[in-house]
Amino acid sequence: MLSEPFYDPLRSYQDNFEHGPFGLFADPHRIPSSETPKHSFLGQPVNTPFGIPAGPLINGKYVKAALDMGFDLPVYKTVRTRQYPSHPWPNVLAVHVDGDLHTGRTLVADGNYTEPLSITNSFGVPSYDPEFWQPDMAAVVKYAAPGQVVVGSYQGTKSETGSVAAYIADYVTGARLLKETGVKIVEVNFSCPNEGTAALLCFDIPRAREIAEAIKNELGDIPLVTKIAYFGDDERLGQFVREVGSVVDGISAINTVSANVVDEQGQQALPGEGRLSSGVCGHAIQWAGVEMVERLVRLRESLSLKYRVVGVGGVTDAAGFDRFRRAGADAVMSATGAMWKPTLAREVKEQAHEL
Ligand SMILES: Cc1cc2nc3c(=O)[nH]c(=O)nc-3n(C[C@H](O)[C@H](O)[C@H](O)COP(=O)(O)O)c2cc1C
Repeated sequence: MLSEPFYDPLRSYQDNFEHGPFGLFADPHRIPSSETPKHSFLGQPVNTPFGIPAGPLINGKYVKAALDMGFDLPVYKTVRTRQYPSHPWPNVLAVHVDGDLHTGRTLVADGNYTEPLSITNSFGVPSYDPEFWQPDMAAVVKYAAPGQVVVGSYQGTKSETGSVAAYIADYVTGARLLKETGVKIVEVNFSCPNEGTAALLCFDIPRAREIAEAIKNELGDIPLVTKIAYFGDDERLGQFVREVGSVVDGISAINTVSANVVDEQGQQALPGEGRLSSGVCGHAIQWAGVEMVERLVRLRESLSLKYRVVGVGGVTDAAGFDRFRRAGADAVMSATGAMWKPTLAREVKEQAHEL
């Protein structure tokens, strides 16, 4: 059953930022954990390797609520080295998909959130200034109880001049700013647009490697996870893993899958240029997340690499968590599912089949 979401799609990003989280996240009571951390993720003890990926936890209040509700691996939303605006409202709509979603489909979107739950989200990765997010992130890093770890996510911003050197330098600055918060794991979003092209950074393998190396150099001992999109091409994924998987400590897959999103009249559902195509997440992309985890685990074994795999995509119940764990995920995260099921971490703790 779906509950009131902790991020309210009917309100603007700003309104959610100032007044949220909502529903059960509005007043969570920290349940003192009786668990002894049985798991370890990138050197950190973890009660249950389950969390919320980059996005829905838009500031420290949201991360704190997630920790209280038992999500032991929450990711503080993707930030940037400078303030960056959100796309106009609406930013979230329900989409109705028959079966599994593959790219290139056209979907009808509306405000009717029903199970099996899939949505589109379109924010443009907004960010506050580091003056806001650095102390906000540092406070929740400290707030985490034993067996819980807050992950800090960020991405570089294209430069106004189109300079690749400035783009790479921005990633290094971001790594330094995150390091200063005391965060114990950093995630970098490579499923974002690359400088100079419309394609995603994770598909430009030489540049992704160069940036990963520059970030690692700045972070020192802090583990680095890279967040990637679904790779349709197996050979390309193999190349990515050979080049980037040997530099980073973890790979998180997947981000959203693109589709054209229209309203019931067939008109573009999200207002503004470039927003006909939008990222879809939730139940309809679970197949793609699980498949990527299986491929990443196989590649890790065959190439004798060490990176940890974070499984993301369409987890809305304990069975979804189990499916990713069986596929070999070291940790599992849910964005859409957790938004509408704020008790999902408790459900996973009670019902999941431990490996
Ligand atoms: C509201 C919302 C905002 C998101 N923002 C980001 C983001 O800023 N950075 C990022 O790497 N992924 C972002 N994502 C993608 C999620 O981290 C995740 O990869 C995707 O939603 C698939 O997981 P799900 O099916 O459990 O939702 C966002 C997702 C949602 C629902």
